[in-house]
Amino acid sequence: MDMTASDSLQIQSWNGPYTVRFRQTVAEAAGDIPRDRPLHIVMDTRVALLHATALAPLLTDARSVHPIEALEGNKSLEVVPALVQRLSEAGIRRDHLLLAIGGGILQDMTCFVASILFRGMDWAFLPSTLLAQADSCIGSKSSINAAGVKNLVGNFYPPRQISIATQFIATLDPRDVRSGVGEMLKVHAIDGPASYDRIAEAYSRLFTETAVMLEFIRASLLIKKQMIEVDEFDRGPRNVFNYGHSFGHAIEAATGYAVPHGIAVTMGMDMANHVSTRMGRMPAQDFARMHPVLRRNYDGYEAVPVPVDRMLEALSRDKKNVGTDLSLILPNTQSRIEKVRVPPDTAFRDRCREFLDDVRRRA
Ligand SMILES: NC(=O)c1ccc[n+]([C@@H]2O[C@H](COP(=O)([O-])OP(=O)(O)OC[C@H]3O[C@@H](n4cnc5c(N)ncnc54)[C@H](O)[C@@H]3O)[C@@H](O)[C@H]2O)c1
Ligand SMILES: [Zn+2]
Repeated sequence: MDMTASDSLQIQSWNGPYTVRFRQTVAEAAGDIPRDRPLHIVMDTRVALLHATALAPLLTDARSVHPIEALEGNKSLEVVPALVQRLSEAGIRRDHLLLAIGGGILQDMTCFVASILFRGMDWAFLPSTLLAQADSCIGSKSSINAAGVKNLVGNFYPPRQISIATQFIATLDPRDVRSGVGEMLKVHAIDGPASYDRIAEAYSRLFTETAVMLEFIRASLLIKKQMIEVDEFDRGPRNVFNYGHSFGHAIEAATGYAVPHGIAVTMGMDMANHVSTRMGRMPAQDFARMHPVLRRNYDGYEAVPVPVDRMLEALSRDKKNVGTDLSLILPNTQSRIEKVRVPPDTAFRDRCREFLDDVRRRA
């Protein structure tokens, strides 16, 4: 795929179309933000420090700036009133623009606040993590923690525009890069074996060549675009994006969040593949085709103990379950990803244990 730095993508949504621009530097991406109306910025404190120089002109022009630490505890319903209060005190109006600078946490908070202020005001986004750039920035969802439950509250409220600067990736913790790559592997696997093989073949270069990373960020968003444009509200086809997530969330919960999200998702895909293969669904050669790169992406975490009881207990609480059956996203005999109901019986439990105790340890 040929690509230039000024490339862009348009996404159709219930709230009108929005644009994703691909940039190299943070300064270029900041330059995309319209200055024709008052701007209020909600930004990640760490990103503010690391990219202070590039962001300075934008911050100087802003009517108000609200630094927030990217902590799950801050992405909660309890913290929303304080942000609303600060924005109100800063004189925010319906025709102003709200801008989020940061990863998924800042995205979720800003998206939610933009959706409720004045019954909805415009917002824009400069995603600073790979996960947000390659995955969460499109798709309209906000997810807010409430009553001690992660992502309990939310709605669908897309931004007006998004500018992706690959320069942000350079300052990320390596585990956050791998976490983002996990979601990129997921999106490509959903698109089919040819797409997965393409990103798997380029795997090493993702970490060393910015142009290759950008190519696959764009490809990931293109695949996701096709799905969210037909099922923005996640009623059917979009469900497949939960591939690796039921197992992944259960692994996160069972390990007390010792495994970063996208890395747990990578392990979750490998686990879904294993279970599917042992159920006689996914051909063994497909498991073997995908395992090496999935395994590399969770390398170092294969030894983290995952107590099978705690994992199954977390799996049984998944909000997608139907009755006592688990609702899982598994590859079928054609290597296509689909939603299946699986009873959490002894055989299922054995397959999970097999994976956790043995299969995931294999290089
Ligand atoms: N709304 C959605 O569709 C959606 C989808 C997936 C995930 N999420 C949510 O996103 C959150 C996770 O987001 P995330 O993984 O993007 O990261 P994050 O926002 O949790 O940030 C991760 C860490 O990276 C730091 N950071 C951010 N940008 C940086 C940069 N350029 N350089 C150095 N450090 C930087 C942050 O300060 C933080 O310490 C979760 O709360 C999850 O529920 C939402
Ligand atoms: Zn995810």
